[in-house]
Amino acid sequence: MPAADPINCADYERLAEELLEPGAHGYFAGGAGDERTLRDNVEAFRRWRLVPRVLVDVSQVSTATTVLGTEISLPVVVAPVAFQRMANEGGEPAMARAAAGAGTVMCLSTIATSRPSEVAAAAPGGHRWMQLYCFKDREVTEAIVAEAVESGFEAIALTVDAPWIGPRERDLRSGFQVPAEIDVPAVAAATGSDGPVSVTDVFDLIDPSLDWDDLARLVESYEIPIILKGVAAADDAERAAECGVAGIIVSNHGGRQLDSAIATIDAVGDVADAAGDRVEVFLDGGVRRGTDVVTALARGARAVLVGRPALWGLAARGEDGARHVLEILRSETALALALCGCPTPADVRGKHVMSIVR
Ligand SMILES: Cc1cc2nc3c(=O)[nH]c(=O)nc-3n(C[C@H](O)[C@H](O)[C@H](O)COP(=O)(O)O)c2cc1C
Repeated sequence: MPAADPINCADYERLAEELLEPGAHGYFAGGAGDERTLRDNVEAFRRWRLVPRVLVDVSQVSTATTVLGTEISLPVVVAPVAFQRMANEGGEPAMARAAAGAGTVMCLSTIATSRPSEVAAAAPGGHRWMQLYCFKDREVTEAIVAEAVESGFEAIALTVDAPWIGPRERDLRSGFQVPAEIDVPAVAAATGSDGPVSVTDVFDLIDPSLDWDDLARLVESYEIPIILKGVAAADDAERAAECGVAGIIVSNHGGRQLDSAIATIDAVGDVADAAGDRVEVFLDGGVRRGTDVVTALARGARAVLVGRPALWGLAARGEDGARHVLEILRSETALALALCGCPTPADVRGKHVMSIVR
């Protein structure tokens, strides 16, 4: 019997697992240590329940919103995920077309298998953010930023939750290495070699001394806004706002860094309260359903990012698969909004969600 067409994110996850080579699948799917945070990002959403509201005219529901002033057609952005050509030969250009087709932003990883300029050329009408790891070699870092700015990227998402690499035990067991034929331009620029790359090699390039003074300097010197990616604590959000960042992504790197880190849906409320109206707050980690999207909005996020779901779509069916995942999340989000009595994402409030943990 032919496999049924995927109808939700979990279906794409299963399809991708069937199709990917086991080492690559382990790299994409895995988390740090015992993978408690990896699992908890997903499970924590089940500790929150939506509170339906009735007798609101929901004959017209729009999922559209804005992120840093850019209009997007659903409150879901594509998170930066490294090495996308390892999932599908279309790689990051295919992901960029999928995001643009769905009317949302794609955030490109520093550790991408295409250059920022190639990704921009693949989806000229699309909106893009550039994820940045600050390398010890600041010249290479600045060259990445310059190319992104030149190519029309609209913000820098500076990742700060990975000064040391998390213990990815699946990769240790599988001996995972990025296949030699996969180019990683930023790493080649930083090392001066285009030989085979391991994930540990990449993290060795990242500057673990980066601090708040550096952040303040970067905010001053970059022409485009900075979004701080990888924040979990209200105090850090407060400090980030003082430094002048435009956005904060509440993230634990998809459970790949500090195992036992708090699930993002449990952290976002305090971060959003600390940020207030000064900074837009986003969340990633564990979003698999439109109901998760609405739960995150109710806890104070302006939009969410999805990492693995879009990646599973890309792995299973290239650009069409990644686009389909975004369309699934759009229609699920529209339904959840309608049944919560919210014609738009802006109508979602704290009262639409309740914790079931007493
Ligand atoms: C395979 C993989 C590679 C990733 N690569 C990066 C990266 O290069 N830079 C970064 O800031 N985050 C990276 N992330 C983290 C994602 O941006 C995002 O925080 C995470 O995937 C969200 O969780 P989710 O996969 O449950 O949606 C990666 C995540 C995965 C799964």
